[in-house]
Amino acid sequence: MIESNNNKTKNKLNINSLISKMTLAEKVSIIHASQKFESGGVERLGIDNLVVSDGPHGIRPELIPDIVAFVQAGRDDDFSVYLPTELALASTWNIDFAYEFGKTLGTEARYRKKEVLLGPGINIIRTPLNGRNFEYLSEDPYLTKTFAVKYIIGVQDQGVAACAKHLVANNQEWERFTISSEMDERTLQEIYLPAFKAAVLEGDVKSIMGAYNKFRGQYCCHNDYILNHILKEKWGFEGLVMSDWNGTHDTIEAGNNGLDLEMGTEQEWDNYYMANPLIEAVNNNQVPMSKIDDKVKRVLKVMAFVRNFYTSGLEALDTDKHDHFALKVARESIVLLKNENQLLPLNPLSLKKVLVVGSNAKRKHAIEGGSSQVKARYEVTPLEGIQNHFTDVEITYCQGYSEDEDANADALREEAVNAAKNADAVIVVGGLNHTGHDREYIDRVDMNLPYGQDDLIEALVDANPNTIVSLVAGTPNNMSRWIDKTPAVIQAWYNGMEGGNALAEVLIGKTNPSGKLTITFPKRLTDSPAHSSPKSYPGVDGKVFYDEGIMVGYRHYDTHKIKPQFCFGHGLSYTSFSYSNLSVSNSKLTDDKETIQVKFNVENSGSLTGSEISQLYIAPKNSLVKKAAKELKGFSKVKLNPNENQNIELTLTKIEFQHFDENTNEWAVEAGSYDILIGSSSENIHLATTIDVE
Ligand code: BGC
Repeated sequence: MIESNNNKTKNKLNINSLISKMTLAEKVSIIHASQKFESGGVERLGIDNLVVSDGPHGIRPELIPDIVAFVQAGRDDDFSVYLPTELALASTWNIDFAYEFGKTLGTEARYRKKEVLLGPGINIIRTPLNGRNFEYLSEDPYLTKTFAVKYIIGVQDQGVAACAKHLVANNQEWERFTISSEMDERTLQEIYLPAFKAAVLEGDVKSIMGAYNKFRGQYCCHNDYILNHILKEKWGFEGLVMSDWNGTHDTIEAGNNGLDLEMGTEQEWDNYYMANPLIEAVNNNQVPMSKIDDKVKRVLKVMAFVRNFYTSGLEALDTDKHDHFALKVARESIVLLKNENQLLPLNPLSLKKVLVVGSNAKRKHAIEGGSSQVKARYEVTPLEGIQNHFTDVEITYCQGYSEDEDANADALREEAVNAAKNADAVIVVGGLNHTGHDREYIDRVDMNLPYGQDDLIEALVDANPNTIVSLVAGTPNNMSRWIDKTPAVIQAWYNGMEGGNALAEVLIGKTNPSGKLTITFPKRLTDSPAHSSPKSYPGVDGKVFYDEGIMVGYRHYDTHKIKPQFCFGHGLSYTSFSYSNLSVSNSKLTDDKETIQVKFNVENSGSLTGSEISQLYIAPKNSLVKKAAKELKGFSKVKLNPNENQNIELTLTKIEFQHFDENTNEWAVEAGSYDILIGSSSENIHLATTIDVE
């Protein structure tokens, strides 16, 4: 437990009276940055700068404020919890974790005197190539919104404002500062907006960050349609819209189109679009004063929300609890993709020699990746985790491949293959990293494993049939070269400060894996819906066309019957589960207020305690509207002992049957029959029934 001396009671703010006392220059000073991570304030009126900080899975280290570049300040008091990244969080399908995740971050943010936490990242995962997939939750809007809302509430319950980012259609890093995302209205409403809408309407998120890219030709940070029309008018958002860093490009648009706070790193603060040029624009009647007052009000409201929490004195940071929470999430996030002949779990008592291969066995990831970087209090690598848990086993390590192009790849591979021949089991810890692939500002060029890992894995599997491949990565990889002959494969994500221990626990069965994929792993890139043409990815002439429309992720693979490598919702356990007794409370949904209770039973039919994630999909029958084969509309995770069973109840309302009708520009429900499907993945449906919607 670390105690803070942050015992100052901040002044409560009376917003309207403050605005009435401000000059135009003072108002404008509040709505643009005065430091890399601070807005301006008004000293005369006792208004301190608003202090914001990344990021989505830990509180970013302090940076040198008065230079353009993002350089660490080199302090020794800016460590943070390093939680598994958001994609790992979602892979737990444990919704209680989403709240606790936000709470953990909120507590540490407050301790570090941060008032706005720049997270969660809630963009939809559209392509396996996007460098920031690891910072997002899923390819599915329902799952994304469910996790986003709880995360936000968790942060904000600690008196820290959350910031949902990046609105909207920021689904690739390629040309992110200039590309315009083009899509039809239905796709926008059904796929890319729901998480933001829920963040506002259900999570009461206090701030939203505009995306770098353009949407239909206009920059997202001052996009009239998205910010004014949808966010503020349609959804009634009363919080603050901030720009992404240096994501503002025009004073008049920024003034009029719904941006409230311009952030950035350039040091000439007075020249920001929403600084002196905005004063001029107001004086020239190009931006009305009412717009300025509204922006100031929104910034002050966030300050008031945060500062009115400062009534008690002492704050403390329970680091043990937070570090342990990182372990809990990591354990449940790991996805056992394949496990032939029950190779896993390994029994350390029957093993003499285990070979660990791969750069990622030793690599630490917390401090890399861009704005989500964290100075972790510590980070247990996979090799350390294995050493901690495989007691009385001789562990040897070979690098196997190198991230350095000049290294002798053949020699490294040969050394590992020779060692593999004498080992009882081989654990390959490969995948990607935050410098070359899963990071801000770049997309990957293909879906292949880098550094000759395919050659290495093939050779290791040939040399030793007890080879287990564990991939550290925040996005799918092409496994076609070796998947069929590799008996056991694990997806281990960027799994936070305790990731190595969690992996080792899964390897020896101390933890029974229970994570499931929240994104589809395609066999090859060309199977992915975003990759039908250069127009749909990466885009041509500055525009990327979302030609696949609503068929994102499993919606595409299911509807077009394309078999992925591993489907959405897939994840194995060391035990087995059986499903029975599906019933619905009524077989007809007539009016809007009605609900249907969907009940079924899940039993642990194996011999080990384990957790099962059940998924509810709805599938329209004979629809006249173009729809996906099925859509996720509910899920549950239960822990069961052997032979134990549990009745599960999920609720459906008419909202779950809606689609966006482009003719009326409104949500509509198509009358007809719908299958209610209960599965252990999107492919493995165990129970089905049909209901009618009127
Ligand atoms: C990222 C944001 C981040 C901001 C501040 C930008 O590059 O896109 O997600 O919050 O930097 O660090």
